[in-house]
Amino acid sequence: MTRLDSAIRRLTAQRDVLDWAARVIAPSGLVLEIGLGNGRTYDHMRARLPGREIYVFERKVAAHPACIPPEKYLFIGDVFETLPAFLERFGEGSAALVHIDIGTGNEDANRELALHLSPLLAKLLMPGGFTLGDRAFALPDCTDISSTTGVRKGRYFVYKR
Ligand SMILES: C[S@@+](CC[C@H](N)C(=O)[O-])C[C@H]1O[C@@H](n2cnc3c(N)ncnc32)[C@H](O)[C@@H]1O
Repeated sequence: MTRLDSAIRRLTAQRDVLDWAARVIAPSGLVLEIGLGNGRTYDHMRARLPGREIYVFERKVAAHPACIPPEKYLFIGDVFETLPAFLERFGEGSAALVHIDIGTGNEDANRELALHLSPLLAKLLMPGGFTLGDRAFALPDCTDISSTTGVRKGRYFVYKR
């Protein structure tokens, strides 16, 4: 498989999972996008979830100008600082959907990040809420339902609380 094939598969899985989530998400509850990047998935989420409040977390905003969230919905800084602040403000269990895509090409660093971030992610979801991730997370109160979403095993990870 070429790197182009691999990128296409990853992006296709990402889009398919976001589309799946848009069909099954609870009618109320906050939506979080962790890792704005160039804003591709944020743009997709806001198109698929019109009227929902989408809070976005990013260390350094460098997205396409058309994909920068309104200031009120943007938490700039390291997620290890901004997520606790978000939890303080909105309380635990306020999110119906969390999408997290903050990995890099360094798999060791990604594993470490997922390990340390999992306890924070675990606090965000309301009962019935979903976490969608580009990698596996340790969420003991959630069930891994990735295999029920139609996306091939290992491509994207979906947890339901
Ligand atoms: C792969 S990109 C996200 C791409 C995005 N989903 C898209 O479709 O355009 C990952 C983003 O996560 C951000 N990020 C990585 N680690 C972070 C951290 N600890 N705190 C906040 N943002 C972080 C990076 O700055 C980067 O913009």
